[in-house]
Amino acid sequence: MSINSTSSKTVTKLENVLIIGNGGRENSLAWAIQKNKIVKQVYLIPGNAGSERINKCERIKIDIRNKNELIEKLYFLKIDLIVIGPEIPLADGLADFLREKDFKVFGPGRDGAKLEYSKSWAKEFMRDANIPTANFWKVNSQEEARKIIQSSSFPLVVKADGLASGKGVFIPDSKDECFRAAESIFNGKFGNSGNVVVLEEKIQGPEVSVFALCDGKRYVLLPTAQDHKRLNENDKGPNTGGMGAYSPAPLITEDYLKIIIKEIIEPTIDELNKKNIDYKGVIYFGLMITKSGPKVIEYNCRFGDPECQTIMPLMDQNFVFLLEKCSMGNLTYDDKIEAPNKVSGCVIAASKGYPHKYKIGLPIKIGKIDSSDCQIFDSGTCLSKNGELLTDGGRVLSIVCQDKDFDMVFEKAYKNLKEVDFDGIYFRNDIGHQVRKNFPKEN
Ligand code: AMP
Ligand code: GLY
Repeated sequence: MSINSTSSKTVTKLENVLIIGNGGRENSLAWAIQKNKIVKQVYLIPGNAGSERINKCERIKIDIRNKNELIEKLYFLKIDLIVIGPEIPLADGLADFLREKDFKVFGPGRDGAKLEYSKSWAKEFMRDANIPTANFWKVNSQEEARKIIQSSSFPLVVKADGLASGKGVFIPDSKDECFRAAESIFNGKFGNSGNVVVLEEKIQGPEVSVFALCDGKRYVLLPTAQDHKRLNENDKGPNTGGMGAYSPAPLITEDYLKIIIKEIIEPTIDELNKKNIDYKGVIYFGLMITKSGPKVIEYNCRFGDPECQTIMPLMDQNFVFLLEKCSMGNLTYDDKIEAPNKVSGCVIAASKGYPHKYKIGLPIKIGKIDSSDCQIFDSGTCLSKNGELLTDGGRVLSIVCQDKDFDMVFEKAYKNLKEVDFDGIYFRNDIGHQVRKNFPKEN
């Protein structure tokens, strides 16, 4: 049995799809969307060099902040559906603007994106809806932060309230370090994103990413995934955007998923409705599986990267219909994604120095890739004037493979990685260690 999104066929036009964003996530969405024969063309604004290698895909070079030019182009291209990848345009209200112009948009408005762009708002939202999450304090000054840190009997995590490209979370080892983190945020390390600080009780447990495609009222769950946020093997080193992922996550059994749905997913959608937020897009639940049950670490208003690259190859050609139905508020209770008959894994090839300073513009060599159930989605690449593929970001390539089990998946992924090279290439060798039977486990 292959994975089927059992969405019934829509009668609307779906020839031209636009994806906004420039990462591996957007390339994997484009790749999954173009599988459907109804789709004639997928446009990416701006996409990256890898977008040009995907069937039916074309890049458009315009600045989405120039609203008049954008709208003119979208009318000209007769765009039928728009999928917005990253959080910044969502937080800026791009989905609201495009909906006002009568486009079908997959992506929440500014009100829904607040789940991601204000951590304190998200925590208050969870408190209102009784959704399990770590205890927290919203603080407005260094003085306030100092008092709470000094009186706390347990370790705290420090977070900038606003968007900080995944860098606004500190997990200090001491009260002193904790205070210094809060101080640096208040002193402008993340600009206005740090006008408010959230202090959180530090909780423990494995993390899992759950994605719900939401049409405002109903939702469809994607296969679960586990990301590897730390830079180095054995989950050590600084936090990154994600160094690899696998899907589905065996940790989340069907029964456990029922608990997550009851305690977290449905209360979140109910609370959005209660607050009159018509959320048409994906809700990313970043969860920690603690001894006392699942807790929300964070919400995001977009697909995870690299979870999206990992999950997209498990979708069938009907995936685009689900996105369209969400954009129209038309999901039905029959819409679902069936359990996949294969598993998927992704390893990120990053630039030396990432997530701190790194070089770009380095030539990338790709040798002979075993292309059966393997994809390379470019995360940060560009082309030189002569058409040579160059590095253009911290995370450069996502190497994704599928197979019957995770041992086979990662064997294939690492074999393919040997065919990829650029100066300073860095990747973790232990992606999927939790689910690889043949991977030496630490005692
Ligand atoms: P966030 O950007 O909020 O997802 O945080 C980044 C990472 O920091 C998470 O994936 C966790 O590994 C860690 N983290 C965030 N909040 C907490 C918390 N309250 N307790 C323990 N770890 C946390
Ligand atoms: N992989 C984590 C994220 O996309 O935020």
